Amino acid sequence: MPPADTNLYLVGFMGTGKSTIGRQVAKQLGFAFLDSDHEIEQAQGRAVARIFAEDGEARFREMERAYIETGHPDQKCVVACGGGLVVPPGRLELLRSRGIIICLHAPIETIIQRTMHASHRPLLEVAERESRLRELFAQREEIYRRTGTMVLTDGRPLREIVTHVLRVYRQEAAHSKK
Ligand code: S3P
Repeated sequence: MPPADTNLYLVGFMGTGKSTIGRQVAKQLGFAFLDSDHEIEQAQGRAVARIFAEDGEARFREMERAYIETGHPDQKCVVACGGGLVVPPGRLELLRSRGIIICLHAPIETIIQRTMHASHRPLLEVAERESRLRELFAQREEIYRRTGTMVLTDGRPLREIVTHVLRVYRQEAAHSKK
């Protein structure tokens, strides 16, 4: 397929703006925008929080893997990936085989602010949300760093971030063999 049709996968911690930015980038590219959490919820007829409660996190991670393997078109998509999608062993390689990966990044203080009042993330339904976020962020930071080009989403206008992501995507897609 021509490089310009290569899928783009946005990864990164919760609250880094994957959906907001992904939607705008998809619009600019004329691609479909897909959010892995939303797609899994639609297919399951249940919210992510219920899947975690009823089937457990491990089962949800398998749903994420299946979604990346076979659950979406293999070209012309921008996929906002749930924050933990890239964490299990082998997932990064799987994503790389499917397209270009860009990692959205923000400092932990910003992530705490952005996620403080949201109620749809099962991993954050704990008494000490802030320490949970710091712990998860520290555990995952190294993994995210290995995924691909990092784009900072803190303290910059949305338009500028979208332009940056588009520039990285176009450069990498031009050199991609996918
Ligand atoms: C998760 C992130 C969430 C969602 C689930 C688990 C994680 O997605 O997939 O609650 O493990 O970081 P967002 O990154 O879109 O919040």
